[in-house]
Amino acid sequence: MEVVIYPNYEAMSKAAAQMVARVLNAKPNAVLGLATGSTPEGLYRELVRMHREEGLDFSQVTTFNLDEYVGLPKSHPQSYHYFMHEKLFKHINIALQNIYIPSGTTDNYEAFCRWYEERIRQCGGIDLQILGIGADGHIAFNEPGSSLGSRTRIKTLARQTIEDNARFFDGRVDLVPIYAITMGVGTILEARKIMLLASGKSKAKAVAATIEGPVTSMITASALQLHRDVTIFLDEEAASDLKLIDYYRWIQANKPGAPKT
Ligand code: F6R
Repeated sequence: MEVVIYPNYEAMSKAAAQMVARVLNAKPNAVLGLATGSTPEGLYRELVRMHREEGLDFSQVTTFNLDEYVGLPKSHPQSYHYFMHEKLFKHINIALQNIYIPSGTTDNYEAFCRWYEERIRQCGGIDLQILGIGADGHIAFNEPGSSLGSRTRIKTLARQTIEDNARFFDGRVDLVPIYAITMGVGTILEARKIMLLASGKSKAKAVAATIEGPVTSMITASALQLHRDVTIFLDEEAASDLKLIDYYRWIQANKPGAPKT
């Protein structure tokens, strides 16, 4: 795992966007795994800016989103379909047929989940997966206790996640869906390259457990320790509980001059 720490959210988002751009420049038809939530908004803003001002091209890109609330139609302002179109897709030159987001309204979830996994495989697998992290250490909606081998399926959201996400539903816990359809931890670990972003003090404990704690299904993000190419992008507050913070800073400062491997 590589841990990189930036002074604030904006700087972290810009650095993360640079990594996405490097992947797209090397492979214009890359398959991206995308997250929603407040954390990647700055990254998406920066990608839109790079598209407009620097010609970053999405015309051959395919995307798979991590998750969607069960029961929300695509037109619902809090659905992840709506979020992705508003924050990213409608501002870039991605082909609509190359966008995949789990359905929150299918009448056969089991078949849909199987199809989603199959579609990822048919598209060649995910080249770069973007992740946020929940305060309980979840990635996608793989709540504590989720199997580290899990695949796309329906999950019951933890109470903490429902309370955390009530801020998007006028502060009303009763309006937050109880179920989500989500890629599994096993699905995520198959991505060739993974980046996880975290910002703010409320994520500091989960971030420390992810990077420095044991690999455990109680913090599903800790499974990323088993992956060979993960970069963790943090702002100062999200990094504030890390025991080896000085070491990560030392590595980050010396990286530009390091011998090529
Ligand atoms: C969303 C997702 C979730 C969020 C996490 C953090 O697609 O997969 O795991 O990344 O709940 O959400 P924010 O960024 O809103 O704090």
